[in-house]
Amino acid sequence: MKRALVTGAAGFIGSHLSTRLIDDGVEVRGVDCFSAHYERPLKELNVAALSDEKRFQLIETDMALSKVAELIEEVDIVFHLAARPGVRDSWSDFADYVHANVLATRALFDACAQAGVRVVFASSSSVYGDAARLPVKEDIDLHPVSPYGATKAMTELLAGAYASAFGLDAVGLRYFTVYGPRQRPDMGLSRFIEAAAAGDPLHIFGDGRQLRDMTYVGDAVAATVAAAERGRPGAVYNVASCAPRSLLDILGELGQVLGLELELEHEERKAGDVRDTWGAIEHARQDLGYEPATPLRAGLHQQVAEAHRRRALLAVP
Ligand SMILES: NC(=O)c1ccc[n+]([C@@H]2O[C@H](COP(=O)([O-])OP(=O)(O)OC[C@H]3O[C@@H](n4cnc5c(N)ncnc54)[C@H](O)[C@@H]3O)[C@@H](O)[C@H]2O)c1
Repeated sequence: MKRALVTGAAGFIGSHLSTRLIDDGVEVRGVDCFSAHYERPLKELNVAALSDEKRFQLIETDMALSKVAELIEEVDIVFHLAARPGVRDSWSDFADYVHANVLATRALFDACAQAGVRVVFASSSSVYGDAARLPVKEDIDLHPVSPYGATKAMTELLAGAYASAFGLDAVGLRYFTVYGPRQRPDMGLSRFIEAAAAGDPLHIFGDGRQLRDMTYVGDAVAATVAAAERGRPGAVYNVASCAPRSLLDILGELGQVLGLELELEHEERKAGDVRDTWGAIEHARQDLGYEPATPLRAGLHQQVAEAHRRRALLAVP
C-alpha cells in the first residue's frame, strides 16, 4: 500500500483511518464533501492535525457528482467511508441517504472496477435488523429495520453485482457502534457526554436494557487496514467488540468516567433502532487477524477527554 484514497476522510472514522495510514507511511488522498448532517467545524477539527502533513491531500467534492476515475488515479487502494450515516433521520431524509450511500457508492465501484483497484467499503450492523440469534454471523439473511440499513444492504449488493459483472475486488466491513474521540455528534455516547456536561438529563430511548456492541475507533481502523491487506475478495466482515453491554451498564461506566451521577429520562424506543447488537467476529479474527484491544472504560476516557478539548476550542469567547 503506497497511495490510498479515503472517502469521508473528514468524518469520524475516516479521519482516524487517514491518520493511521499516514503513520504507516502511506500517501493519502482524502475526499469529503463536508455534508451538512453535522457541523463543518467539527469535521475541520477532525482533519486539523493532518493539514500540515505533506503526504495528506484533502479534496472537497461530492463523490456522487465527481469524476471518480480522476480521484482514484494512481491509488492502489480505496477506502470508502463516505456516507450519510445514522438510523433515525433516514425515515425523513431518504433521498439524501440514497444520494450518499447508493449513488456515490455506485460511481466509486464503477471506477474501481474499471481501474482494477481494490476497495474496502463501510457497511453497518444495521443491515441485520433484529436478528433472531446473537451474536450475529455474517452469513444470515439481511433484514434491515431502517431505510439507512436498507441503503447499506444496497451497498453490499452493488459490490456483489460489480464483482460478478466486472471483477470488482471489494471487501465490506459491517461496523458495530463505533465510539471514541471525534464520534459523530448525533451518536448516543456523544449526546450523553454533551448532556452531562450541560447538566441536562440524558434521554435514552427504550428501557436501557438493549445490548450495544461498542467498537473502539482504533480497533475499527485496525480491522479496516487489515481488510485492505488480507481481506478475501467479495467477503464481508463484522467489525465488533463481541463484548456487548446493556445501555444502562455503559451509562454506569460513563458516569464513573465523568465522576457524575447521571440523570436518565426514558423515552419511547424510536422506529429503526435495533433492539440488540452483538457481532460474531470469528471471520475477522481468522482472515484479518483482528482482535479488539480497547476495553470500554479506556475508550470512554479517550472520548470524554476529546469532547472536553473540543468544547473548550469551540466555546464562544
Ligand atoms: N460510526 C459508526 O458507529 C458506524 C457504524 C456502522 C457503519 N458506519 C459507516 O462508517 C462510515 C463512516 O461513518 P462515520 O461515523 O465516520 O460518519 P461521518 O459522518 O463522521 O463520516 C462520513 C463522511 O462522509 C462525508 N460524505 C458524505 N457524503 C459524501 C459524498 N457524497 N461525497 C463525499 N463525502 C461525503 C461526510 O461529509 C462525512 O465527513 C459510514 O459509511 C457509516 O455508514 C459507521
